[in-house]
Amino acid sequence: MSIRVKINLVLLVIGVVTSILVAAFNYYEARNRVFSEAQKKAELISSFAMASREYTKQTMRPLAVKMAGKDSFYPELMAGFFVVRSIADIFAESQKGYSFKQATINPILPQNKSNPQETEIINYFRSNRNVLVKKGTLSQSDKQVFYVARPVVNKKGCMKCHGRKEDAPKEQRVMYTGNGGYGWQVNDVVAALITYVPIETALDELKTIALKTIMAGFAAIAVIMLSISFFLNRIVVKPIVNLTTLTERMSRGKDLDKTIENTSNDEIGALCDSFNRMRVSVVKLIQMIKKKK
Ligand code: HEC
Repeated sequence: MSIRVKINLVLLVIGVVTSILVAAFNYYEARNRVFSEAQKKAELISSFAMASREYTKQTMRPLAVKMAGKDSFYPELMAGFFVVRSIADIFAESQKGYSFKQATINPILPQNKSNPQETEIINYFRSNRNVLVKKGTLSQSDKQVFYVARPVVNKKGCMKCHGRKEDAPKEQRVMYTGNGGYGWQVNDVVAALITYVPIETALDELKTIALKTIMAGFAAIAVIMLSISFFLNRIVVKPIVNLTTLTERMSRGKDLDKTIENTSNDEIGALCDSFNRMRVSVVKLIQMIKKKK
């Protein structure tokens, strides 16, 4: 195997490994950025949803109760969960892939029913009562999404509407004819407020970027290998081949008077110089031997 091939092989291995490592490192760095971006967005959306609920509780409900009377119940104006869900539905229409869900194992409104993944999150909060926020990724209809979830704990005050159905406000029973959303236990984690942020497109883009990085790396290796081949040829290979041809001829007693041309002042130049000196010595030796005869 020639020096050129050996050096190129080493370069190829180093280049390929470096390109892949750089691409992998970039990919994971960018992936972390995608997740932290998604988390920021999810936190914003969920803060906004919580603020809407607070506003309903503190401002809308008291005013609505004052206007409509203590015994009346208009969920559209009085139930924070109703208001937040309605706002979230409108929001999700214009922001594709983003959503906010009050995922509940046993909901009043069937739309709020938790899917198996959400039930798992609620059960996680049930068995880890000190955990107040959970985030991660999951796949929703074959698309990767990032989520931030917070537990909802059922309190005594909630039992008026979520305890026994017959105790719930009449309007509620008229509006929601199903039997879901009742029989909740005080202090139980009944739901999780989950904000979903789409990350599928961003992750796909990352893969394309990683692939492009690897391609660019390979292109750079090809250029480096070609350049090195070119210079190696001029600086090392050619002079050595010249030297080999000449020494070959000399070993057969030819061209003993020819000086090996030396154009470089590096190690190969030194080799040529010492070879020239050896050639002169050999010629002298031959002459001496001839004289003695
Ligand atoms: C005055 C009645 C009332 C009270 C009090 C009340 N809720 Fe509700 N809750 C409702 C109604 C009605 C809905 C359905 C809202 C909708 O249509 O989105 C609901 C929905 C929910 C949901 C969404 C899941 C579902 O059942 O559809 C959760 C979670 C929830 N409530 C938790 C609570 C908690 C926790 C409390 C106490 C802090 C509470 N609620 C107090 C009436 C009430």
